[in-house]
Amino acid sequence: MNPISSFFFVLLLTLWPYQILATTTATTATTTTKATAAPKSSDLIAKTCGLTMYQDLCKASLYSIPNSNQADSRGLAGFTLKLALRNATKISKVITKLLHKRLDPVTKKCLIDCSENYIGAIHQIKNSIAALDYKGYYDANTWVSAAMTFATSCEDGFGEQGVPESPVKAKLTTFFQLCENALAIINNLGGIVTS
Ligand SMILES: *[C@@H]1O[C@H](CO)[C@@H](O)[C@H](O)[C@H]1NC(C)=O
Repeated sequence: MNPISSFFFVLLLTLWPYQILATTTATTATTTTKATAAPKSSDLIAKTCGLTMYQDLCKASLYSIPNSNQADSRGLAGFTLKLALRNATKISKVITKLLHKRLDPVTKKCLIDCSENYIGAIHQIKNSIAALDYKGYYDANTWVSAAMTFATSCEDGFGEQGVPESPVKAKLTTFFQLCENALAIINNLGGIVTS
């Protein structure tokens, strides 16, 4: 059952419990069939994650998404990118928050650049999610890579000032790993060979 039909089911159940339970006994049989079909789709998550560099992250993040076991590989790439997008959005918010604090001029300048970098990264991830819709795997690859370059630019900005890492560096790791994982899935879908 998808979330919407489950919602209505619960709603109806609340209103007319006995009638519904009696009439849905037949439907339960179909639901059970669906449930037993799930392991096959979860295998797809395991199989797809087998292509990636950060397999534990891949599996943990994809299994945590409702209905991900019903997705095909392209859907799984999309889910991974949406998680990366959520990461980038979070990092962007952290940067905005930091910019409201009193900062030394160097940090402030770097963080302003980072803020723009992450706006760029978010934009590129959104583009790559859209590219998956039309099976534009080369485009998706280009834009995910561009998003990673934006995040790297933020770090480089601090590095050029002799600061080894940005205040969001620790949060960047998962974003990067999700991007790497998405790239592996995308490249496999598009038959893109990387050196
Ligand atoms: C990044 O995404 C992962 C997986 O969804 C999540 O566990 C982590 O908390 C996120 N990090 C940030 C900074 O949002």
